[in-house]
Amino acid sequence: METRKCIETRRSVRKYTDQDVTPEILEQVVAAAAWAPSWKNTQVVRYYAVLNKETKDRIAETGVLGFTWNTKIIQGAPVLVVMTMKTGRSGFEKDGSSSTSKGTHWQSFDAGIAAQTFCLAAHEMGLGTVILGVIDENVIKECLNLPDDEEIAALIPVGYPAEEPKPPRRKPVEELLVMC
Ligand SMILES: Cc1cc2nc3c(=O)[nH]c(=O)nc-3n(C[C@H](O)[C@H](O)[C@H](O)COP(=O)(O)O)c2cc1C
Repeated sequence: METRKCIETRRSVRKYTDQDVTPEILEQVVAAAAWAPSWKNTQVVRYYAVLNKETKDRIAETGVLGFTWNTKIIQGAPVLVVMTMKTGRSGFEKDGSSSTSKGTHWQSFDAGIAAQTFCLAAHEMGLGTVILGVIDENVIKECLNLPDDEEIAALIPVGYPAEEPKPPRRKPVEELLVMC
């Protein structure tokens, strides 16, 4: 798919068909997302693909701060991707000191780029995704027994779209772009 078209036609998809998303397909999406740029090429993002229904339902029910809108999305998705970031590397020196005044900002910045790259690659392959930020990090870390040196960046349910959401309005370029 042409890049501009892929960017413009990607939507947050919250309803999915029952069709399985195979591990091979997920590997292809992550292989594309691996090309996202990152701070000094540190590549701190990791993708935990939750295929087990019991674990996925547990996260849906207990890991969304009571936001049942997100519960339903996760329950209906064949796969839930939990995006994490290895901490203390992106934006930090080897001695652990912060390289800039922005502390942990850069690891989240890297994760954001990786998330969009993941979602665009998935869209190109006919999959639907949505980035979920209303989540309970501590609960999900415990559900998956994640290592102490990783933080959760976001959840991304993945599946074949069962809806075609209308594009939400975007701000006009004149409001976004300032020529200086
Ligand atoms: C950081 C971030 C957090 C988000 N969190 C949620 C969420 O918790 N639940 C949800 O349904 N959508 C969530 N979204 C999706 C946005 O609502 C969506 O991207 C926005 O409305 C624009 O729609 P589009 O992605 O179809 O262009 C989130 C998106 C981002 C980037």
